[in-house]
Amino acid sequence: MRNRVNTNKKKKVAIIGLGYVGLPLAILVDKKGYESIGVDIDENKVKMLNDRTFPFITEKNIVRQFQKGSFKATTDFDSIIDAEIIVICVPTPVYENNMPNLEPLKSACENIALRLRKGHLVILESTVNPGVCDNVIIPILEGKTGLKCGKDFYLAHCPERLNPGDKKWTIENIPRVIGSYNEKGLKKAIRFYKSIISAEIKPMKSLKEAEAVKIVENTFRDINIAFVNELAMSFSYLGIDVVNVIEGAATKPFAFMPHYPGCGVGGHCIPVDPYYLIEYAKNVGFDHDFLSLARRINEKMTEFTAQLTVRALNERRIPINGTRVAVLGLAYKPEIDDCRESPAFKIIKHLKNYGADVVVYDPYVSDGSTVSSLEEAIKNSPAIVIVTAHKVFKSLTPQELLRNGVSVVIDGRNCLPKDDFIKAGILYKGIGR
Ligand SMILES: NC(=O)c1ccc[n+]([C@@H]2O[C@H](COP(=O)([O-])OP(=O)(O)OC[C@H]3O[C@@H](n4cnc5c(N)ncnc54)[C@H](O)[C@@H]3O)[C@@H](O)[C@H]2O)c1
Repeated sequence: MRNRVNTNKKKKVAIIGLGYVGLPLAILVDKKGYESIGVDIDENKVKMLNDRTFPFITEKNIVRQFQKGSFKATTDFDSIIDAEIIVICVPTPVYENNMPNLEPLKSACENIALRLRKGHLVILESTVNPGVCDNVIIPILEGKTGLKCGKDFYLAHCPERLNPGDKKWTIENIPRVIGSYNEKGLKKAIRFYKSIISAEIKPMKSLKEAEAVKIVENTFRDINIAFVNELAMSFSYLGIDVVNVIEGAATKPFAFMPHYPGCGVGGHCIPVDPYYLIEYAKNVGFDHDFLSLARRINEKMTEFTAQLTVRALNERRIPINGTRVAVLGLAYKPEIDDCRESPAFKIIKHLKNYGADVVVYDPYVSDGSTVSSLEEAIKNSPAIVIVTAHKVFKSLTPQELLRNGVSVVIDGRNCLPKDDFIKAGILYKGIGR
């Protein structure tokens, strides 16, 4: 479907939750001519935003749009009362035991329910398992108000697919799916998204279908990554370079989609969302063996990476106990500062358990870095472990490393030219290569 000129000038849209998803949306809504108000419980963030300071690293054009726009942030939920549309973008994490944590979502819905009025269109963008809209959100919204979903107010689900740091697929051109409680709500939600994005919008038959789409997308990735991670572990014993094999297989023009192994899966989505489906299905009597196995394999990669380090140091007759090891990268992916569910933390923990003297450096994450420069990190570190493929790490040369006393390189992202390092006399180990 094609984008339309927005005729809804200065209709008010309220975005609840101003994080990696909600904030770019609030900025886009403002750019498209709506009155855009963001509501967040984090007072510091709201203050920063109203002082026109962007709270995390993102694309320059988003920051520019934010600085010249008129989007406002507040902690006051009353500002949603006169909005036409309320979009929920709060986090949906898991607890330490991997059980879904719907508390932020429930709390946001309770705050909305206190202000809900006839005609409101509520849209959920957060990722949830099938059934959350029907069994959690609607009862909260209806319960406190006596208003009826589909008659007095409308509920739609348009799961966000944003991929932070992706220059090709942006909030404006990623196709979307939308499910709704009823046809009228669906039409209203489609009209809204057509006014802000220029991409295909696929209507789904129900809220449940839309919820399932998002979980399936992210679970697909988790399972495929688990497959190549398992191959990587096996091939490291068989002496086969798994990356070369995947690249060979990828020359088949159909029925193969390359995925690549690594030292762990991070971020707020891939390592989290499968648990939402696993737990939901368990409650209704079905065990997702395949999904659970994929999670277990991907969880193992941090320990595998630490063991690679131990084995490589051992080959060089260096005990890990008391040896300085530089962990390079804390963010879960390159050129961003988001560390949620990053494998780096577990790798650091495992290395410390082996007795390593760990130093940490990420140019985007000063909080978690224990040294203030890359030079300082590598100096006198017999081993380095690359956890994030930041450009600055990819440009490290064997000569530079050797000059600083590095003789073992564990390339957790398979991002360095392996042959150059081996030729220079460095003991290089990638993940399955
Ligand atoms: N980050 C991504 O790349 C991405 C991509 C697609 C989908 N998602 C999904 O989008 C949702 C939001 O993720 P995110 O990465 O933007 O999270 P985030 O943690 O970056 O931001 C969430 C914001 O919501 C605020 N918040 C928490 N509870 C609140 C409440 N009760 N009321 C109001 N505000 C509240 C927090 O203070 C925070 O500012 C999640 O369901 C996530 O799975 C995320």
